[in-house]
Amino acid sequence: MKITVVGTGYVGLVTGTCFAETGNDVICVDIDQSKVDRLSNGEITIYEPGLEKLFLRNLKEGRLSFTTSLADGIRDAAVIFLALPTPPGEDGSADLKYVLGVAEDIGKLLTDYKVLVDKSTVPVGTADKVKEAVRKNYAGEFDVVSNPEFLREGVAVDDFMKPDRVVIGASSERARKLMGDLYAPFVRSGNPIIYMDERSAELTKYAANSFLATKISFMNEIAQLCERMGADVDMVRLGIGSDDRIGKRFLFPGIGYGGSCFPKDVQALVHSASQVNYDFKILNAVMSVNEKQKVHLVPKIRNYFGGDLKGKHFALWGLAFKPNTDDIREAPALYIIDALLAEGATVTAFDPEAMRNVKQVLGDKIAYAQNQYDALDQADALVIATEWNEFRTPDFLKMVTRMKRKAIFDGRNLFDIKAISELGFHYESIGRAIVNSEVK
Ligand SMILES: NC(=O)c1ccc[n+]([C@@H]2O[C@H](COP(=O)([O-])OP(=O)(O)OC[C@H]3O[C@@H](n4cnc5c(N)ncnc54)[C@H](O)[C@@H]3O)[C@@H](O)[C@H]2O)c1
Repeated sequence: MKITVVGTGYVGLVTGTCFAETGNDVICVDIDQSKVDRLSNGEITIYEPGLEKLFLRNLKEGRLSFTTSLADGIRDAAVIFLALPTPPGEDGSADLKYVLGVAEDIGKLLTDYKVLVDKSTVPVGTADKVKEAVRKNYAGEFDVVSNPEFLREGVAVDDFMKPDRVVIGASSERARKLMGDLYAPFVRSGNPIIYMDERSAELTKYAANSFLATKISFMNEIAQLCERMGADVDMVRLGIGSDDRIGKRFLFPGIGYGGSCFPKDVQALVHSASQVNYDFKILNAVMSVNEKQKVHLVPKIRNYFGGDLKGKHFALWGLAFKPNTDDIREAPALYIIDALLAEGATVTAFDPEAMRNVKQVLGDKIAYAQNQYDALDQADALVIATEWNEFRTPDFLKMVTRMKRKAIFDGRNLFDIKAISELGFHYESIGRAIVNSEVK
């Protein structure tokens, strides 16, 4: 099938590449000329495990190409995916200007039946708005489908190739059939394609992300209780997770959720609810818990240093909002850096993939290290913000030789309390006992 994907970010590039991988001819359209040039020249623009190999193979075999021209991109396409940004507007609502702008442009170019697919995360009613936008300039036949994307950055290729489910919101039989054919190679093991109306599909995506964000904030509140009551959140997590009504996954406490999806999607659902005079109380609480949790380590650090961080130097491991990605949108690390700098401290950071993106935002406000150990030189303490695997079993003896003080503030509970206690580190994590509280 001939397919167009408009927008070649985290979702668009994975979508385009994976559809090419199953034999489709895919043209990806982006307004960013430099991105299109780099991609056309075989240079991948995001870090996503496993993507580069598929991207290069499909580019080489001619099934995947890139252009800035929407007209060239959609000319022969049967299906056009919109994988465009839907950032939060000032009132928290999802800003639809990219999606509706491109839909209007597509309306000017259509000459025959095509299916437009909303892959972006969009509020309920957007499929109708996309239809209206196209109809401004085109009176012929077309369909609009809502096909929300559930991939997770860091495991996006696997998620796309082997989705738990595919949700297709479409009222037209013709569009359903096309979408079913397109997704058939991805659901061979029996994972379902769930067909529904467009509005339900649109709400499904927000409901999924908001539920997951709720699970995280819930565990973060349990962790707060553990810290105050002398319980260990890891034990509580195991204790509740073995109940299969609750499930083991997504129960890890930490320094809050970040990324380009959860924060904006929760906010957008609260806003959508308010539009229909509904006060979504749980999600308001989820957001306020998360705001505090992002900087939960900061008072712990301040307290350890007797209330004054001026002149203190911190090593920071992890900048990405989660491991296995270079995405730093709404990353808790950035909030911690802001707070430390505001109190007169300095920071040297290391992240395996995200430093390039952070340099673009923070420049030389912080220093960047070549590796995790170099970041520790002369550090009064180490702060851990992202659970990259390579941080899990570091050489502690090497760490001791590089650091000024043996102190670790771990936002991701990477280390075993007993082991770290024997090594003599002052160690504070989330929802667990403080180790060696007297060491300074
Ligand atoms: N990132 C994720 O993990 C994820 C997962 C599921 C759903 N989503 C949703 O998918 C959508 C896209 O997210 P993303 O993370 O891929 O965004 P992104 O910012 O990484 O990529 C968007 C791309 O669209 C391009 N673009 C902007 N305006 C354009 C235009 N007029 N024409 C052509 N290209 C244009 C940008 O240059 C950019 O390359 C959002 O709605 C997001 O909520 C994201």
